[in-house]
Amino acid sequence: MVQRLILVETDASQIDRLAGVVREVEDFELAASFDKIGAALGQSSMFRPDVFLIDVDDPNARDAIPDLLKNFPQASVLCMMEHWNADIAEQCQRMGAIGSMLTPLRGEEIVEAMSTFERRGQAGSPHIIAFFSPKGRSGKTTIVANLAISLSRRSGESVGVIDADLQFGDLPIFFDAEPVSTIVEAARDIKLLSPVTLSPYFMQLADQLHMLSSPKRPELAELVEQESLIEIIRMAGSLYKYVLIDLPSGVSPLVMGVCELADTIFLTGMIGSGFETQHMRRALGLFQDWSALGKDIRVVFSRVVPYNDEERRRLADQIDYPVSAILPNEYLLISTANSGKMPDGIDFNSTIAKKFELIASELMYGGAR
Ligand SMILES: Nc1ncnc2c1ncn2[C@@H]1O[C@H](COP(=O)(O)OP(=O)(O)OP(=O)(O)O)[C@@H](O)[C@H]1O
Ligand SMILES: [Mg+2]
Repeated sequence: MVQRLILVETDASQIDRLAGVVREVEDFELAASFDKIGAALGQSSMFRPDVFLIDVDDPNARDAIPDLLKNFPQASVLCMMEHWNADIAEQCQRMGAIGSMLTPLRGEEIVEAMSTFERRGQAGSPHIIAFFSPKGRSGKTTIVANLAISLSRRSGESVGVIDADLQFGDLPIFFDAEPVSTIVEAARDIKLLSPVTLSPYFMQLADQLHMLSSPKRPELAELVEQESLIEIIRMAGSLYKYVLIDLPSGVSPLVMGVCELADTIFLTGMIGSGFETQHMRRALGLFQDWSALGKDIRVVFSRVVPYNDEERRRLADQIDYPVSAILPNEYLLISTANSGKMPDGIDFNSTIAKKFELIASELMYGGAR
C-alpha cells in the first residue's frame, strides 16, 4: 500500500532534492512538504499522512514530535539528521519517533528504514539490559541466551544480543552460529554507521532475534574500545526494543561503562563453591548507588538446590538483597546449549524454560525485582 508522506525540511535548498527522492519511491506518495514544523502541524490533516519525515537538526522539529503524534496518531515519525548524534536520536525515540537516519538519503533507504524500525516493535526507548557476574562460570551466558529467546517469543518485539565477552565470548557457540562479521568490524566502522547500516553486522538467529558476535580470536578483543562499544549499544537501541549485553566476568572500566549505560543489570551467580553469596554481596556494593538512582538491579542464582522459595529467601538473607529469580540445576537445557541447538532444541515446557518466560514477562511489564 502506498503511504502518504509529509516532508518537513528547514533547509529550503534541500526540500526540492528530498522531494525528488521521495517521489522516486513507489511505496510513498509525497503528500506535502513544509519548511516549518509549525506549518506541518497546522496544515497536515487534509493530507491524511501516514509518515512524517522530519529534519531533526532543527530543535523545533524535535520538540514538536509529541504534538505531531497527538494530532496524527496513525502516523509514524521518521527523523533525519546530517551527522549521527546518539543523544538526539534517543531524544526523538523517547518522544515517539520510530527512528532516525542520516542525510543525504536515497529513496530505497527510506523504505529500508521504515521496515527496519517497524519490525523493532513499539516506538519508544529501548530496554538496555547488561549481565554482570562477579566470577566466571556463573551461568551468565546461559541466562542471556535463554532470556533473549523468551523475550523475542513473548513480546513479538525485536531482541538484539551483543556478545561483549570480548576475549572468550561463547554466545555464537550456544547458537551454533558462524557469523560473517563481529563486534570487531562493528567497532571499526561505527563512526560511519547509522542504525540501518549497523543492522547487517548482526546475525539473525530467529524471527525477532539477532546477535552481534564476539571477536573470532581472543587477541582481537583489544580492537574493541569501550567508547565504540557504548556507541554500538546505543545505536542498537534504535534497531532492537531489547538489547542484551553479555559481559566478561568481574569488574573493569568496560564492564562498568556498559552497566552505567544499561537501565537493567542482572547480577548472576552459580551455586557451587560456597562463596558465591559472599561475592554477590561485595558485587552489590558496587551497584548500590545506581540502585538508589532508579536502575533496576536484579540478582539471579543458577543451579539452586533445593529449588524452592525458602531457599530463594535464604539466599536473599545472605546477600541482604532480594533475589529476583533462582534457576534449577537443569542438565537437559544445558546439553541443548552446549550442543549449539538453541533456539530450536529447547523444550519450552521444561521448568527452567518456563522460568525464563516468567523473567521475560517481568522485564516486559516491569514486574517484581
Ligand atoms: N541452571 C543450570 N544448571 C546446570 N548447569 C548450568 C546451569 N546454568 C549454566 N550451567 C552450566 O554451567 C556452565 C557455565 O555456564 P555459562 O557458560 O552460562 O556461565 P558464564 O557465567 O557465562 O561463564 P563464563 O565465565 O565462561 O562466561 C556451563 O557448562 C553451563 O552449561
Ligand atoms: Mg559466558
